[in-house]
Amino acid sequence: MGKLAPSILSADFAELGKQVEEISRAGADYVHIDVMDGHFVPNISFGAAVMKALNKLDTAPYDVHLMIENPDQYVSDFVTDRTEYIVVHQEACPHLHRSLQNIKAYGVKAGVAINPATPISTLECVLEDVDLILVMSVNPGFGGQKFIPVALDKIRQLDTLRREAGYHYTIEVDGGITLDNVEMVKAAGCDIFVAGSAVFGAENLTERVKEFKEVL
Ligand code: DX5
Ligand code: ZN
Repeated sequence: MGKLAPSILSADFAELGKQVEEISRAGADYVHIDVMDGHFVPNISFGAAVMKALNKLDTAPYDVHLMIENPDQYVSDFVTDRTEYIVVHQEACPHLHRSLQNIKAYGVKAGVAINPATPISTLECVLEDVDLILVMSVNPGFGGQKFIPVALDKIRQLDTLRREAGYHYTIEVDGGITLDNVEMVKAAGCDIFVAGSAVFGAENLTERVKEFKEVL
């Protein structure tokens, strides 16, 4: 069964706690935390303090997506007892192997994200070490963008590769996921589906999470 990770980037920040509890109660598998620094991506979102405030509530585990430069320096800020994955960008990590080991040293699963223009061949040397590969299906920085189909090919290739070579990474997709395309992306071999505007833009969050879960 596919897993749903609603991105709180599209939540109503004045109601953040309530909304995160609601989607968690409704069956969201992860809370996707989009951290943006205004350098790696052309937008600033929120940091560890906001995520830690949520930690007082009853929520699904965190899937932390760091769209920041120098991520190694900030990883420890995002480690909580609810943090399951911390994901860094291939494009922001000149020493990717070290960055992944740094995350694992905190007892957290380590993920790497690739932008639409980054080929999966850039990950060849870390396929053994990585717990999750996040295939970006939009250029990161904003919610509500349109799905870029090149992601489908990458997901198919990554799924074939792990079956043939026996790798254990999980495949996640992020950007432009809706109720209309999620089935097609699942068929390509994806395991975790990030959805921001498609979940938080709904009138009834509980129903929308359930709709996604039914398709997944
Ligand atoms: C994009 C973020 C995504 C974003 C997804 O930079 O990484 O997680 O919030 O939003 P939607 O689902 O609206 O494309
Ligand atoms: Zn994200």
